[in-house]
Amino acid sequence: MHAPLLLQPLKVGNHTLKNRIFLAPLTRLRNTKEDLAPTDLAVEYYSSRASGGLLIAEATNISATGAGYAGAPGIYSDKQIKAWSKVTQAVHEKQGVIALQIWHTGRISHKSLLNGEAPWAPSSIQAVGNTHIYDEKGELKRVATSIPREIPLQNIAAIVADYAVAAKNAVTAGFDFVEIHGAHGYLIDQFLNPQANIRKDQYGGSITNRSRFLFEVVDAVVAAIGANRTGIRISPFGDFNGNSSVHEHEMADYMIKGLSERGLAFLHISEPDWAGALPLSMDFRQKLRKSYLGIIIGAGAYNAEKAQPLLAAGLIDAVAFGRSYLANPDLPERLAVDAPLNALDLKTLYGGGKKGYIDYPTLA
Ligand code: PHB
Repeated sequence: MHAPLLLQPLKVGNHTLKNRIFLAPLTRLRNTKEDLAPTDLAVEYYSSRASGGLLIAEATNISATGAGYAGAPGIYSDKQIKAWSKVTQAVHEKQGVIALQIWHTGRISHKSLLNGEAPWAPSSIQAVGNTHIYDEKGELKRVATSIPREIPLQNIAAIVADYAVAAKNAVTAGFDFVEIHGAHGYLIDQFLNPQANIRKDQYGGSITNRSRFLFEVVDAVVAAIGANRTGIRISPFGDFNGNSSVHEHEMADYMIKGLSERGLAFLHISEPDWAGALPLSMDFRQKLRKSYLGIIIGAGAYNAEKAQPLLAAGLIDAVAFGRSYLANPDLPERLAVDAPLNALDLKTLYGGGKKGYIDYPTLA
């Protein structure tokens, strides 16, 4: 096998995961229109991938006002909690372990998803980017994001609290971990970034101030469900959704130190090259390993050949596979025998039904 270390078990939080091949959180936009809840197809989609060490379920709205993509799910209503319970139960029945990624999309949203109101963001600066809404026929279409409104200082605590409630709801729904989405130009990453955040209060300006929201969310989620169940995904040096941090070295160092001190279950690094920015430097990987005392998941443009030397050097502990796991429900089994992989069908990435969701073939 090209990457035998991927098949080694790994202790994360209170779980011993059977291997280091994780499912990356993937936005598929196939949830119900009425309730923003996963369907029985999602039960099959996730449970058919349960042979991975950890499945990280798709980005899920912490609140109705945090929504930004038509067809994305939520975790703030009883119906959503019930629907997610079916997913976690099916995964557990196959001895799988599953996390829920929780997000607020901030300015990456559109008025039509928010009862005609502008999205909330650190500052009223429109993102260069787009999102998905429903057209008149109920089909997904891409549109430019709406101009956001600045979150008033006195409303920030309520959004932080929404993350904590969402995390609790995820645990109620049977998730083993919660992953806070701090990456890719969504709300937390908007606070981090001076292009999106020009606030004059204690949430803008200095590195300490711009990262205040992130640490408040982390601390609230940890208080709600425990550090051993809390992970976070960040994307240092990334450039996505009009939110570039390619030169933010000091911010990356500061975040990593603060996250390490909190003793989380894992730190998930979405590496910049998945979305066209430069790959992480070896320098940074070594610094990360030294300053972050915990489990590090790497993600972004990985295959077995990229994974093995980084695992061998101890620079990462596990790999989250996105596109290749999407197209190969039995990715762990395939990697174990160096089997060829199904190609990804980009046309069925978002929305629709079974096609491109639960019909990618397994080896057998
Ligand atoms: C996407 O749908 O393109 C997407 C969603 C969430 C991410 C990254 C990309 O974190």
